[in-house]
Amino acid sequence: MGIERVGFIGLGIMGAPMAANLVKAGFAVTVWNRSPSRTQQLLASGAKGADSPSAVAAASQVTLSCVTNSGDVAEVALGPNGVIEGAAAGSTYIDCSTISPEMARKVAAALAKRGVDMLDAPVSGGDIGANAGTLAIMVGGEAAVFERCLPVLEAMGRTIVHVGPSGAGQVVKLCNQVAGGLNLLAAAEAINLSRRAGVDPAKMLEVVGAGAAASWMLSNLAPRAVNGDYAPGFMVDLMQKDLRLVLDAANDTHTPLPGTALVSQLFQSIQAEGRGTDGTQSLVDAIAKLAR
Ligand SMILES: NC(=O)c1ccc[n+]([C@@H]2O[C@H](COP(=O)([O-])OP(=O)(O)OC[C@H]3O[C@@H](n4cnc5c(N)ncnc54)[C@H](OP(=O)(O)O)[C@@H]3O)[C@@H](O)[C@H]2O)c1
Repeated sequence: MGIERVGFIGLGIMGAPMAANLVKAGFAVTVWNRSPSRTQQLLASGAKGADSPSAVAAASQVTLSCVTNSGDVAEVALGPNGVIEGAAAGSTYIDCSTISPEMARKVAAALAKRGVDMLDAPVSGGDIGANAGTLAIMVGGEAAVFERCLPVLEAMGRTIVHVGPSGAGQVVKLCNQVAGGLNLLAAAEAINLSRRAGVDPAKMLEVVGAGAAASWMLSNLAPRAVNGDYAPGFMVDLMQKDLRLVLDAANDTHTPLPGTALVSQLFQSIQAEGRGTDGTQSLVDAIAKLAR
């Protein structure tokens, strides 16, 4: 039997558009969000509401989540009224949050005891990719489960790669945050030099973004900072959560990551100003402050 009934837990900046794309793709979608107001738009577009993560899982062949951190996934998956209480044997849980590889493996092991498969499937592409259905999705878990769930993932993403066993998706996501953070720092430094040397940074981005130094950060996020738009596609507080996971993994594996540590300290200075809920494009201001 193909997958028809899909559930989604956590309708934030990422989860809401991801769930909306599942509705658009024709799945029967059941949703739950901790703050009920965030479900309104999805209910209006044809999703059904449920009153707990366990009720979502009970209604679904595949249940997805996109919440904040490791503890939050533990809560919605394994806590009271969690996925584990409602999911039938033979169903699948896919977590798209960015969490520690250890927690992904722990949740997978707990669900396996009930005959429920799990994939860790963190995503990259920001709010833009979530809305457009063009996310990059890095998936850990059993290959056969990945193959079975591919139609669900394809409704939300464009590049979907099975990268290894349980937890491997989260390891790759941490690598993504290393590269993304350093690309953003490169954009922040280029914008500040351009400004201070008297060249319109928008013009600089237009041409540099089309050359050998091109990056998603330069083309998509840096223009927001240049336009004074600090609304979050991805909040600084969440980036710092991810960079802590990266630096924990670096410690565990004795992998020196000096650039990533620097990026994290610069974000610290944005948080110190009380701007942790700004978007990560505010890294441009952390560099600007150094020249004041
Ligand atoms: N934004 C991006 O560009 C981006 C890109 C890739 C990956 N991610 C990752 O995707 C995940 C979600 O990010 P986001 O930007 O969508 O964040 P967000 O807008 O803050 O949304 C977080 C969602 O998780 C829910 N939640 C958090 N803790 C919970 C708990 N203990 N129990 C139940 N629900 C809980 C929130 O519910 P409430 O509405 O009740 O607060 C909200 O629906 C994070 O792991 C993030 O690192 C984000």
